[in-house]
Amino acid sequence: MYVFKDYYQNEVMLSFEVDPFSSHPKHVFVICRYHGKWLLTRHKTRGLEFPGGKVEKNESPEEAALREVYEETGGLVNQLRYLGQYYVDGKGKKVIKNIYVADIDRLDDVNTYYETHGPVIIEKLPSNLKQSKTYSFIMKDDMIRHSLNQLRT
Ligand code: GTP
Repeated sequence: MYVFKDYYQNEVMLSFEVDPFSSHPKHVFVICRYHGKWLLTRHKTRGLEFPGGKVEKNESPEEAALREVYEETGGLVNQLRYLGQYYVDGKGKKVIKNIYVADIDRLDDVNTYYETHGPVIIEKLPSNLKQSKTYSFIMKDDMIRHSLNQLRT
């Protein structure tokens, strides 16, 4: 289990066990790979981040992950795998998010990307993510670093 502060100084707990905080998480975050590169989305207000969002009523977290990837990038997920889960103590609002890793084969050109400007494909994530104005606060805490390390193991 990893414990750290996020960009807003909220406490985050992260674990790569199965459902450490909830078996019914209400949020998902999907680390997307596209032909050996990373697939992100440009959120209209937050900036670059991996796709994700809220689990809707009558939807499983896995279904939400597939839907969010499609809505925010047009990406069709070939393979989805659970990686971990994190808990953000948002002072009043607690958020529990499942982290998935998705392999995307194909991007559809769609009419709307909802709250985002659509897909952004990058070869390498910058080493100075925390300082980058281009990236969303979601990408700026240690969740990304630990998740990418976990992916390598
Ligand atoms: P609405 O409920 O749609 O208005 O959106 P919201 O942004 O107020 O709510 P949400 O439930 O998405 O998030 C609540 C708070 O939790 C945010 O303001 C963030 O501070 C925090 N939060 C949400 N997702 C993440 C995340 O992935 N990482 C971190 N560190 N904090 C998050």
